[in-house]
Amino acid sequence: MSALEKNLLEVDNLRVRFPTRTGVIEAVRGVSFSVGRERLGIVGESGSGKSQTGRAIMGLTDPRAEVSADRLQFDGIDLLSLPARERRALRGKRVAM
Ligand SMILES: Nc1ncnc2c1ncn2[C@@H]1O[C@H](COP(=O)(O)OP(=O)(O)OP(=O)(O)O)[C@@H](O)[C@H]1O
Ligand SMILES: [Mg+2]
Repeated sequence: MSALEKNLLEVDNLRVRFPTRTGVIEAVRGVSFSVGRERLGIVGESGSGKSQTGRAIMGLTDPRAEVSADRLQFDGIDLLSLPARERRALRGKRVAM
């Protein structure tokens, strides 16, 4: 794949879990998609995890929750291992919600 064809956003098996006193709430259960230069709309019923998916990509998940993914990449940058400072720099500049 050339640099031009490379996807801007890669989400592979994204999961967001909220541990609670009564058990674990799985807010996002294995979501996968990629975005190149096109626009992508995410549709689903209330509570299905759309906002939590966006927040996980933005790095704005409640710190009490666990976020995991086989891959969460923006423009080749591994978001899950990116230091908080660099993640903040991406927000507003290149990624917004
Ligand atoms: N802090 C939290 N603790 C426990 N569960 C949470 C928390 N925040 C969100 N959830 C749960 O995560 C799930 C996904 O919520 P989310 O807000 O992503 O849904 P949504 O698809 O954006 O819904 P809507 O269309 O109403 O905006 C819901 O079941 C919600 O109750
Ligand atoms: Mg929402």
